[in-house]
Amino acid sequence: MTFDRSVKIAPSILSADFADFGREIQAVEAEGADWIHVDVMDGHFVPNLTFGPPAVKAFRKHVKTVMDVHLMISPVDAYIDAYADAGADILTAHVEAGTHSHRTMQAIRGAGMKAGIALNPGTPAEAVEHLLDLTDLVCVMTVNPGFGGQKFIDMTAKIRKLREMIGDRPVHIEIDGGVDPTTAPLVVDAGADVLVAGSAVFRGGSVENPAPYGENIRAIKASVSS
Ligand code: DX5
Ligand code: ZN
Repeated sequence: MTFDRSVKIAPSILSADFADFGREIQAVEAEGADWIHVDVMDGHFVPNLTFGPPAVKAFRKHVKTVMDVHLMISPVDAYIDAYADAGADILTAHVEAGTHSHRTMQAIRGAGMKAGIALNPGTPAEAVEHLLDLTDLVCVMTVNPGFGGQKFIDMTAKIRKLREMIGDRPVHIEIDGGVDPTTAPLVVDAGADVLVAGSAVFRGGSVENPAPYGENIRAIKASVSS
């Protein structure tokens, strides 16, 4: 399969109705989501707590596209097999989450998933330079992780540097935090191809009225297609 560099929208279900994840996933996929982004938080690496492997496994039954699991947890390695079993297609760990990210990337691929590495806003691009051959995705956080609906932090210089460092490697650049039709063009112009968006996708809609999800997704896509 050839590497897909086109812009993809990955709605974060952190902004969905927590009592209705199955139907929310179905609704947002029917409205044009390319991937489904699942934010796992442990109340330790980040000051918020979401869900773990059994819940993610339950989401899997509803995801027809790509299940993109973003671990904001520390430590990571002990949970990798559980997320493989839960059906993650892509498993992303933070470079700040442990001392041995190289081993973590190997273990994620070894468990049969694509491996992602995420960087907090304060972490330089160089922190992942020696991981790029073991990585399928670099996630650049444009908010401090932990909550949806935060203000976008401009990381375009870091994105450009990563784009250059990645070169011809088949590695996605994903942007997570504060992505909307105003900020999306900045990050795509800098080299990003996967746009996570929580509040900017789910705002105004619901499972009973999912049309706004589609309008919101199309508005982000339109903002980057010049
Ligand atoms: C933040 C999460 C994000 C979040 C994005 O810690 O990793 O995926 O849901 O939400 P918005 O798009 O609302 O900034
Ligand atoms: Zn995320």
